[in-house]
Amino acid sequence: MDPRQDKKTDVKKLIDKVRALHEGDRYLIETHGCQMNEHDSEKISFLLESMGFLPAPSEEEADLIVINTCSVRHSAEDKVYGHVGRLKHVKKTKPDLKLALCGCMMQRKASRDYVLDKFPQVDIIFGTNNIYRLPQLILSSDENDSLAMDIEDNYSDLDNQLQANRSHPFKSYVNIMYGCNNFCTYCIVPYTRGREVSRSMEDIVSEVKDLALEGTKEITLLGQNVNSYGKDLDDKSSFPELLRQINAISGLERIYFMTSHPKDISDELIACYKDLDKLAPYLHLPVQSGSNRILKKMNRHYSREDYFEIIEKIRQLDLKIALSTDIIVGFPGETEEDFKETLDLIEKVGYDNVFTFLYSIREGTQAAGMEDQVPQEVKKDRFQRLLDLVYREQRKKYESLVGSHLEVLVEGVSKNNPEKLTGRTRDFKLIHFEGPKDLIGQSIRVVVKDTSTFALEGEYIEASRS
Ligand code: SAH
Ligand code: SF4
Ligand code: F3S
Repeated sequence: MDPRQDKKTDVKKLIDKVRALHEGDRYLIETHGCQMNEHDSEKISFLLESMGFLPAPSEEEADLIVINTCSVRHSAEDKVYGHVGRLKHVKKTKPDLKLALCGCMMQRKASRDYVLDKFPQVDIIFGTNNIYRLPQLILSSDENDSLAMDIEDNYSDLDNQLQANRSHPFKSYVNIMYGCNNFCTYCIVPYTRGREVSRSMEDIVSEVKDLALEGTKEITLLGQNVNSYGKDLDDKSSFPELLRQINAISGLERIYFMTSHPKDISDELIACYKDLDKLAPYLHLPVQSGSNRILKKMNRHYSREDYFEIIEKIRQLDLKIALSTDIIVGFPGETEEDFKETLDLIEKVGYDNVFTFLYSIREGTQAAGMEDQVPQEVKKDRFQRLLDLVYREQRKKYESLVGSHLEVLVEGVSKNNPEKLTGRTRDFKLIHFEGPKDLIGQSIRVVVKDTSTFALEGEYIEASRS
């Protein structure tokens, strides 16, 4: 018998126990951070609902509030501290409210200790690798008035078995691997998510098949470095092979993945864009810096020349693949010359989208100990110059699309204008347009009429698929 089955039965028993005590209680999850956290929150939500909890419309009406935290930059941690601080008052007026903290910050001893010291009102703490422990933690917290806490450094196989409440019926995240082995010198993620563990191809494909049967049209495969998928498995599983198998699943229309590391991108993967009709023409390929000196200090294992070579291979496919990237400004030792090389790389590549970050010192990482930290004013000045360039380039890209007819998967009502709908083009650009709400979840055709820096404005023409 599969030993996982045994443990699963234990979790099931605990779930029933919590249900007997909490059926009908209201929960709210507030998520900070990246898609990985968003998807973890979907799993937490599924688990809570299987224990009888119901969603709460507001913090005031919640019996359990879960804050899923992010550590990637100092500002992300500050937001969480602010948030927990505000909840102190809610808890005062409602002493029975349970407050749970989870996610990347809880994996870091320093942040955890700070929380324990400053916010004694927290009832439950768990980490990124043991979400399945939540039923037990709720029971412990019921029994004792003290904190119920459990953290595991590395991913636990039981988490692989968790189902998720997808926030959209037509698009879903799917984990393909957990953790990261790369130790880029600025980055906290390897410390918060543990070492790389790939899910079996069989588990992933069966999850995607089930999703497609339930109406999912778009999936995003999640991993910190998807190109190294399968390297830790005994069989010959690889990322391109996984993509080929997923491409064969009927009902799916679009496959995206996040994130691929330039050092591991292979010709075989690049060829997938040509061979696999569902692989969407979009690649997020974080470069971080355009300077070889800085790339080396970041431990990225590629040079700007290597990066240009990859971009050239992608361009040669002639498939109009949209490119996006992440840039860090003000890494220790970054000179004006290094920064100019970053600006130059951005201009040469011509990205569709650039995510920009001010370098933030993360205690415990190698870069935190580097002596030549860049002064804050210099960082801020470079950041502004970077934004000016990025917005200018992005606008040019978007303007060149005016008049094009594009396929759009309609995602919902626009956040800024309730009269409009919002969707994504196949190459992942945001587009707003007027249309009836029953288009949500459908693939339609839209003509681009206008553009801003961050989105396209269009006009609905017709449904593009039956
Ligand atoms: N695994 C992914 C993304 C990890 S975090 C990858 O390798 O691409 C997302 C982005 O946050 C990174 O690409 C990087 O640009 C940024 N980032 C990570 N640590 C940072 C830090 N200490 N300061 C500023 N930005 C950081
Ligand atoms: Fe962080 Fe680098 Fe791992 Fe990405 S690849 S999560 S930037 S250490
Ligand atoms: Fe994601 Fe933040 Fe953790 S970016 S992996 S939630 S540190």
